Amino acid sequence: MLESKKIWINGELIDYDEAKVHVLTHGLHYGTGVFEGIRSYATDDGATIFRLDDHIKRLFNSGKAYFMHFGCNKDELRQSIIDTVKANNADECYIRIIAFYGYGKLGVNPLPNKVSIVIAVLNWSEHIKKENREEGITTMVSSWMKLDVRTMPTHAKGVANYANSALARMEAIKSGCDEALMINSNGFVVEASAENIFLVKDGVLYTPPISTGALEGITRDTVIEITKQNKIPLWVDNITRDELYYFDEAFLTGTASEIVPIGKIDHRIIGDGNIGPITRKIQNHYGQIVRGKCKNYSSWLTFVK
Ligand SMILES: Cc1ncc(COP(=O)(O)O)c(C=O)c1O
Repeated sequence: MLESKKIWINGELIDYDEAKVHVLTHGLHYGTGVFEGIRSYATDDGATIFRLDDHIKRLFNSGKAYFMHFGCNKDELRQSIIDTVKANNADECYIRIIAFYGYGKLGVNPLPNKVSIVIAVLNWSEHIKKENREEGITTMVSSWMKLDVRTMPTHAKGVANYANSALARMEAIKSGCDEALMINSNGFVVEASAENIFLVKDGVLYTPPISTGALEGITRDTVIEITKQNKIPLWVDNITRDELYYFDEAFLTGTASEIVPIGKIDHRIIGDGNIGPITRKIQNHYGQIVRGKCKNYSSWLTFVK
């Protein structure tokens, strides 16, 4: 991860090395924070942030689950994000926004503490992605179950949910895989540790419903839109672990990782282990949309300049 110049904290742009929080921050002790990962792309007309308003909407919804008062409205936050990208002269970058309960009272109840907001712009490349986008990644079903919808607000992109993701991701890496796939307490496939999942069989695309506990991914939604445009049939349906092995293609979707083909699940090769034709079509179309090459989707782009 490369350093950036400035990080925005509660309304001020601070030098990267000075952007610090107190060690007794509530969010650090109890995971009482929510966050977003957004991407900006270089285009012929300068940097453009992809689906910024949808990310801001999801951040505010995540905050609602945790009774957070951000101290700014959506338009103000939107402007602050644009200002931070500008202040860093960034074009292709990853934007991380985190809102968390600060320090003052250390008890479990976070409400007496003020909410802090941080916007960081990073040149980040440690995503689940092979250098060669043709080669599928290796995945395994985690022995850690996905957080139950009765345990945590899984619609919220809550910091605490990611302890579950981190356990699964570490298990996958220590087992020689790139990424973990998660099953819920009903035995249905949910998503990967930090991406949604799509599968293809006989020309039909499948993805698990959000009610499984999956995050309502913005890339997932973009892919659903792409399938409509390309007249690819899509089923949103429950999928069991063993069904995973018999698909012709599988891929993951996420803002950071974009569209990543899966080559193996639990040592079983999916298709021929490389990117399949439908995944490639969706990956190409996604690349064009985010870089402003599809005029029908210009409303999803926020130009920085
Ligand atoms: C658990 C989880 N699922 C899915 C996604 C994909 O969401 P999005 O496409 O909005 O980045 C992410 C990434 O943020 C995630 O962390």
